[in-house]
Amino acid sequence: MSERITELKNEYFSTGTLSELPSQLFIAGEWCDAAGGETLEVSDPSSGKSFAAVSAAQAEDVARAVEAADAAFHSHWRDLKPSARGMILARTADLLEQQADFFSVVEALDSGKPLGEAQGDIGSSVQALRYYAGCADKIQGDSFPLGAETFSFSCLEPVGVTAHIIPWNYPLATTIRGVAPALAAGCTAVVKPAEQTPLSALLLAGLFKEAGLPNGVYNVIPGTGQGAGAPLVDHPKVRHTTFTGSVGTGSKVMQAAAAHISSVTLELGGKSPIVALADCDLEKTAEGVLWAIFYNAGQICSAGSRLVVERSIHRALVDKIVEKTAQLQAGHALQNPNYGAINSREQLEKIEGFVERARARGISIACGGHRLKVADSESGWFYAPTIMDDVPMQDELVQEEIFGPVLTVQVVDDPEQAIVAANCTQFALAAGIYTQNVTQALRLSRAIDAGQVTVNDYWAGGIEVPFGGNRQSGIGREKGLEALRNYSTTKAITLAF
Ligand code: NAI
Ligand code: MG
Repeated sequence: MSERITELKNEYFSTGTLSELPSQLFIAGEWCDAAGGETLEVSDPSSGKSFAAVSAAQAEDVARAVEAADAAFHSHWRDLKPSARGMILARTADLLEQQADFFSVVEALDSGKPLGEAQGDIGSSVQALRYYAGCADKIQGDSFPLGAETFSFSCLEPVGVTAHIIPWNYPLATTIRGVAPALAAGCTAVVKPAEQTPLSALLLAGLFKEAGLPNGVYNVIPGTGQGAGAPLVDHPKVRHTTFTGSVGTGSKVMQAAAAHISSVTLELGGKSPIVALADCDLEKTAEGVLWAIFYNAGQICSAGSRLVVERSIHRALVDKIVEKTAQLQAGHALQNPNYGAINSREQLEKIEGFVERARARGISIACGGHRLKVADSESGWFYAPTIMDDVPMQDELVQEEIFGPVLTVQVVDDPEQAIVAANCTQFALAAGIYTQNVTQALRLSRAIDAGQVTVNDYWAGGIEVPFGGNRQSGIGREKGLEALRNYSTTKAITLAF
């Protein structure tokens, strides 16, 4: 652990807060209070206590941010040499890397995730900034054959002001995942972080400013969904909205965008299956499933929340995963445990509700099924790693997203039944397959409806790989080169000689 982290930990544990935390909105390159003077409390899920407050934007502030983004778009950003845009993103990546310790501590405090996981998020955010920095000058069009007398070509133009509505589970990583390709493509951005976790998107504003990003290109307006999110997506000057969150809110965002004919990327819920075939490597599969569901205490849209397992290995595999849950030790995020808190009291109650209803229906609980009391963090929001065994297909544990550390096990008799079980929900985000048989792996990869499938390593992937879902899991793709298409529109130019 670096000296800087030790200093920050000492400061936090002795004062209950940190100096240097942002507390205002960031609009047109300036820090400012919300016009209405309202604020949001920022809580540390590991202790259940508030440790900061930030201004809460309302419609008036949102409108100012969108106007600033629109002015910056037209006055220079869209016309800046793309390689210069890339340089600013690359400088921001360097600054984030230099300040990774501070960002990691703030992210761990704000979200409740273990410090080591927060460090991982900052690392992948640096990579995402570098990836799109390199893309900025490679967004290019095509030419079309119309014969000797005509010349026809296309160029990709930035769509304009983009809105980014961010959830609380990956506050900085989700912000950068959307904003980096948007800025690379020549768009400007207004970010509405989740009300639970506004700090890191605000801190990023300071880095962008230091890296030389022109005023108005990146704006941050923390606030509630109703107070700040809705007026943002309703604003007619917003040309694209990138949203990550619940299905219900995603549907509202899409309706708001429809009112002024603008596009959306929706990254919504999941109930992603992990299929374990009879020939899988049991040890590797158990380890894979453990982290697929218990990393970030299961608060991941693409968590592997259903284990679809062949009957012949069901008992042995579930026993092995249960055994491995003993390694998971909860603690205050800054003590860097390997198992963190639930982000909010509401989310904790939601998780508990699912498990208690299942218990009342007589579903077997292989482990967990209760809140956790953690030494030194008695009032923190922790829930035990939980495994619900042999659950029927129509049960709400199979059908509904819980968004917490609850694995639902479905037992099947053969790979055909595994495909049916894997596809039995309204969601289609991610899927994992564990088998030694390449033919089966490819056959199942085709047959399972999902935006991404991984084989023998659930979290395999990176910023290079497109990410998103089908059906209720959303529309469009983020990450990879595909994300650039969300922020670009094609202009075809044809000249007759
Ligand atoms: P939510 O979808 O309501 O919130 C996500 C973001 O949308 C937040 O920034 C929120 O302020 C904003 N928002 C809310 N209403 C809005 C509106 N009308 N217009 C524009 N923006 C709006 O999700 P919430 O309430 O935080 O969590 C509820 C459930 O959603 C969770 O239990 C979980 O199942 C799921 N969820 C899924 C996530 C994912 O990664 N796909 C992330 C967070 C939550
Ligand atoms: Mg909400």
